[in-house]
Amino acid sequence: MSARHDVATPSLRALGIAMDLYKKVVTTPAVSRPNPVRFHGFELNAMVEAVRAEAADVVSLTLIAPRRGSLPAWRPGSHLDVFLPSGRRRQYSLCGDPRDRRRYRIAVRRLADGDGGSREMHELRPGDPLRIRGPRNAFAFIANAPSYLFLAAGIGITPILPMVHAAGSRGRLVYLGRSRATMPFLSELPPDADIRPDDETGGTDIAAILAEAKPGAAVYVCGPSPVLDAAQRHMFRLNPTGSLHTERFSALPVVDGREFDLTLARTGANIRVGDRETALDAIRRVRPDAVYSCRQGFCGTCKTRVLSGDVDHRDRLLTAGERTGHMLTCVSRAAGGPLVLDL
Ligand code: FES
Repeated sequence: MSARHDVATPSLRALGIAMDLYKKVVTTPAVSRPNPVRFHGFELNAMVEAVRAEAADVVSLTLIAPRRGSLPAWRPGSHLDVFLPSGRRRQYSLCGDPRDRRRYRIAVRRLADGDGGSREMHELRPGDPLRIRGPRNAFAFIANAPSYLFLAAGIGITPILPMVHAAGSRGRLVYLGRSRATMPFLSELPPDADIRPDDETGGTDIAAILAEAKPGAAVYVCGPSPVLDAAQRHMFRLNPTGSLHTERFSALPVVDGREFDLTLARTGANIRVGDRETALDAIRRVRPDAVYSCRQGFCGTCKTRVLSGDVDHRDRLLTAGERTGHMLTCVSRAAGGPLVLDL
C-alpha cells in the first residue's frame, strides 16, 4: 500500500468522524453509560452518623464529614466508592437529599451469598470512620425530559429515589419487590407511586409497564438483570423516541465468550476460564481474595498486569496506553491464546 493510502485526507477523516457520530447517535440505543469521572483522587474520610433499618436486610447509613463540614455536591444517580475496613471496595448509590450538603445517605442490602462486603457494611455503627471516594455519576439524570418513567426493583430504588423527587409531577414511579417488608423507603415515595410487591401482584410484565411511558419519555431502570434485560429488549419497540437509562447492580453477563487459559505467574496456577464465566470469577476460584467492585468494567478495582498474551478488552475505563499490559478481569478476556497475569 502506498503512503498516499496510509494517511487519511482531511475530507476522509471528516467523513470517518461523521460516520462515527452517526453510528453513535443512530445505531447505539440511547442507554446511559457509566461515566467514571474523577477516577483518581477525590477521596475523603467520612464518619457514620446514623444506621437505620429500612427493610428486611436493608440498612441506610448516613455519612458526614469528620468535623461536620460540607461534603462535595452530587446529583441524582451519583454513587460513592466506599473503602471497607477489610480493604474491600464497594459502590453505593446516594439516596438522600442532594440539597443537604452535610450528609450523604446510602443503603445496603445484606447478601447471604455475597463475599462479606454487605455484611461488613451492616456491622458499621455510628461514629465509625469510613473512607469514601466520589461522588461520581454513572447514571446521569437528564433534567429536561418532557416526562419520566422510573422503574425500580428492590434495592434498585436507591439511585431512583432522588430522581423521583427531582422529576416531581413529570415523573411516575413503578416500584417492584418481593414483598413490602423487603422494599426500603416506602414511606418516602410520592403518594401516586405504583408499588407492586410480587406477593400481592403475582409478578410483573415489564413490557406492559414500559408501554405506559409517554412518547419521548426518559425511562430509568435499576434492578436485577432480568428487569434490565427485559427493559432493553422492549423499550425501543414500544417507545422509539424515548430514551432508556439503566443501572445494573450485578455483574455483566458474558456475551460471545470463548474458553481460554490463564496462568497466575506468582504461583504458577493454571486456570481454565469457561465460555460463560469471567476471568475474575475463574481467578477467584483459586484466589478468593482477588479484589473487585463493580464487575462491569468501569471502576478499575480488578485491573491486573498482563505479562503475556493478547487481550480482548471489553471495559469502558482503560486508556489505549493502559491497555498495553493491563486488563480488567471482570469483563475482558483472551483474544486468542492463553494469558499470563501478574497475580
Ligand atoms: Fe470494576 Fe472490574 S471490578 S472494573
